[in-house]
Amino acid sequence: MASLAEKLAPESIKKLIPYQSARRIGGSGRLWLNANELEHPMFFADHQSALHRYPDFLPHDIAAAYQAYCDTTQPTIAVRGADEAIDLLVRTFCQPGVDSIAICTPTYAMYEFCAESLSVNVIKCPLLAPDFSLDVDSVVAAARQANIVFLCSPNNPTGQLLKKENIVSVLEQTQDHSLVVVDEAYIEFELAESVVDLIDQYPNLVVIRTLSKAFGLAAVRCGFIIAATSVMEYVAKLVPPYPMPDSSAEIVLKALTAEGLAQVAANTQSLIRTRDAFIERLSTIDWIDTIYPSSTNFVLIRTQPGIELFEYLVKHGIVTRNQSHEPSLKHCVRITIGSEKSMQEVSEIICNFSDALTPSNKNRDITHEQNA
Ligand SMILES: Cc1ncc(COP(=O)(O)O)c(C=O)c1O
Repeated sequence: MASLAEKLAPESIKKLIPYQSARRIGGSGRLWLNANELEHPMFFADHQSALHRYPDFLPHDIAAAYQAYCDTTQPTIAVRGADEAIDLLVRTFCQPGVDSIAICTPTYAMYEFCAESLSVNVIKCPLLAPDFSLDVDSVVAAARQANIVFLCSPNNPTGQLLKKENIVSVLEQTQDHSLVVVDEAYIEFELAESVVDLIDQYPNLVVIRTLSKAFGLAAVRCGFIIAATSVMEYVAKLVPPYPMPDSSAEIVLKALTAEGLAQVAANTQSLIRTRDAFIERLSTIDWIDTIYPSSTNFVLIRTQPGIELFEYLVKHGIVTRNQSHEPSLKHCVRITIGSEKSMQEVSEIICNFSDALTPSNKNRDITHEQNA
């Protein structure tokens, strides 16, 4: 019987023979003259590392180290960031101009961007107010028309985990017709809630991870796709021939040692303490409507109408993310959690804004907004 991945992959992908790079073909010999590389490094290159040679075509040692970290035996591939993972999955399982993906808004913008760039239709299933929980019925209904459902947990920009039982419910009800991609870019901030262990039971589940967040390696560009063999078989056809520069691979392997992982865990705990103290300091400010609970390294704050927090922070040299363009995130600002010192400074600046807003000031701004 055809697997779900086989049913979803367009004919053009099924026919595709992976690019036969020199590294993939491999071989053995004394002089390697098969890849049009220079035979010796140039004077400006580090002579210890073979920078004149193409890197490994699929860095297996990295994948194996990451599998150990996730405690999974499911196929895992390293890619250039979670963004490349999203792009690869849409390209592998959606036919341009024909197929659709479903997303749960507000969410990470790249799912929609990748789909639109490939003329793949996007079905939006808004998360439910007031806590941005998953609307399981609407997601399941949308999935009947969607090859891929993207779930982001914890979600960017709202900051909360999607309930595991809701993810399972979606997986159960879509297993015959859709892949469910769970983007766990921020999962280190709530590691016990990962759904990687569910892949054994639900081969329609694909998990995306990244080293850009809790691992602090955004510039290295390393992400992962973890999926059942039946799914990975197709994704692997589209992975670029040299997915990871050697210099990145070296750092990633260090990060995934026991020592590296212990450092990440300790730093994550410290960041969580900083985040919670920051939330606590802001919790008494009366012009802040909501500070959403966070399972990430950022906090989403909704102010009362008329309070221009984003602009005020920019004037003080603090760059945050204005989320007001999203219909369900009016008056919302997303603030990344930095060092304790930075967050102390930001909370002081925000408290000073409180002092500047005399009651008449606040009322005037709010009235203006309501009339607008
Ligand atoms: C939910 C989510 N997924 C993926 C990414 C992209 O991660 P990467 O840097 O690995 O491409 C981000 C980055 O902000 C994100 O928030």
